[in-house]
Amino acid sequence: MQIIAHRGASGLAPENTLKAMALAIELGVSAIELDVQQADGELWVFHDRRLERCTDGHGVLAQQSRAYLARLDAGEGEHIPTLWQVMALIGGRCELHIELKGAHTAKPVAALTRRAESELGFTPAHWVISSFHHPELARFARLRPELRLGALTANLPLQHARFAEQLGAWSLNCDVDFVDAGLVADAHRRGLRVLVYTVDEPSDRDTLAAMGVDGIFTNRPDRFS
Ligand code: G3P
Ligand code: MG
Repeated sequence: MQIIAHRGASGLAPENTLKAMALAIELGVSAIELDVQQADGELWVFHDRRLERCTDGHGVLAQQSRAYLARLDAGEGEHIPTLWQVMALIGGRCELHIELKGAHTAKPVAALTRRAESELGFTPAHWVISSFHHPELARFARLRPELRLGALTANLPLQHARFAEQLGAWSLNCDVDFVDAGLVADAHRRGLRVLVYTVDEPSDRDTLAAMGVDGIFTNRPDRFS
């Protein structure tokens, strides 16, 4: 079962920061997940729509200027990194699951993945692009059809993994609260991997492994080495 560091090693360092990414690499993970949003023409690695929970700033991230976002404290003196800064830190040392958090991310992320392949040692096989925003994911697929897609769901869909197959995804990424053996079997019948978020307890990993789950996103990759 693949272990994917969720927002970097976010149980051990401030989530989605360079510190969390560096720690995940140190722990030897084979993949890291992060969240991406756009503001003021830049791609920022940040989960929430608003700034309050994870920084000393205020307001909606997408409405802020570069100068404002760059000076915020994202915990332990870390700043909100840009996607390019994280790519430069990782430099092709592990797979990167890039979650498109909203509209207007597909096009700049497609461009940045191409640039990282020519300048930072990544290959197309390093990327998995995921989203709950299925139209944005479909837009990404039209821009870079050769890359793997992760179709995210936070519920148990009526038609199981059908939506992920329709998107042409490589994986169905689902919530640990809703995944069941029927969903896993249906996804596998459709040729999809099943990745489950967020799993921090080793006993949950064992239950999911028995269901046939292929990978987990965890805030605590140190517990699964
Ligand atoms: O990609 C898995 C997981 O990160 C999706 O949910 O809210 O943690 O971004 P969230
Ligand atoms: Mg995420």
